[in-house]
Amino acid sequence: MNLSHILRDFSEDLAEVEQDLERALEAPQPLLRESAQHLLKAGGKRLRPLLVLVAGRFGRYDLARLKPIAVALELIHLATLVHDDVIDDAQLRRGRPTVRAKWGDALAMYTGDYIFARSLQVATEVECPRIHQVLSQAVVDMCIGEMVQIRDFFNVHLGLRDYLRRIKRKTALLMAVSAQLGAMAAEAPAQVVRALRAYGHNVGMAFQITDDILDYTGTEETLGKPVGSDLKQGIVTLPALYALATSPRAGVLREWIATQRVADHLPEALAIVRDSGGIAFAKELAARYLNRALEALRILPDVPARRTLEAIARFVGHRSY
Ligand code: IPE
Ligand code: IPE
Ligand code: MG
Ligand code: MG
Repeated sequence: MNLSHILRDFSEDLAEVEQDLERALEAPQPLLRESAQHLLKAGGKRLRPLLVLVAGRFGRYDLARLKPIAVALELIHLATLVHDDVIDDAQLRRGRPTVRAKWGDALAMYTGDYIFARSLQVATEVECPRIHQVLSQAVVDMCIGEMVQIRDFFNVHLGLRDYLRRIKRKTALLMAVSAQLGAMAAEAPAQVVRALRAYGHNVGMAFQITDDILDYTGTEETLGKPVGSDLKQGIVTLPALYALATSPRAGVLREWIATQRVADHLPEALAIVRDSGGIAFAKELAARYLNRALEALRILPDVPARRTLEAIARFVGHRSY
């Protein structure tokens, strides 16, 4: 499944979003400009801006109103990635060295802050208090999600509920809000806004579950980031959670995670998770969320944008990058 095929109807409008993104990160200070633009120029799927624009088709589509929302959301996403790579000690993102790998953690933290601050400035173009409330609440909840993940590093007693709550905050929320705000800015009817938020939430849940699967099954070349890093860091995602609950070798895996020694036994630890059936279990759960996303679309008018949303859901289910 290829994302560029899905983007076709929106490529011109997304190109305008791209220009505004570049403009937003033209920092007056040369080092900051370079570090802030580094990740932007490395590419990325631009899924959140796409969701904003597509959702905007379910009301009065006005690119000038949608653009600042799309740009602000991608900037928030970029800022969280820059910070996330500091927390995760990550070397590679989007096939390029991370900001922290290139300039160090301290500069990366300020780069993330700067990108986030620019998202606030871009958002001031939106004259709708409700949109600001939704956006800021999402950022607050994302911070909590990232915090909970840190608290749960090396925790082998997590349940499915803990995992789902964490990925809801750290990923699904921003996608839910992208679809919701696109529809709100286009003044779509309330039940359409609700349906699009539900769609974004379910796509986002499937997206993060798939991300967590790809950390076991993907390749560094296609993903643009290293694989196996979640377990190595002691982050127990769904496949590992399943292995801890069901594998005959769960005991030794639990011991390595709890004592922070996974890195010393990485190939064997990864094999325990891969052999446990945890990946198939996670795939099934992702498919269930995608079905729910498709169900949420049922009440929407049968316009071409609905096909696009269906295609995005299918992409998320089959993505390899
Ligand atoms: C990466 O998001 C972080 C997660 C939420 C898993 P994306 O996979 O959307 O990142 P880019 O923007 O395409 O690089
Ligand atoms: C997603 O978490 C990052 C945020 C939502 C901030 P991950 O740690 O799983 O993302 P990757 O794998 O580094 O892209
Ligand atoms: Mg990470
Ligand atoms: Mg990941």
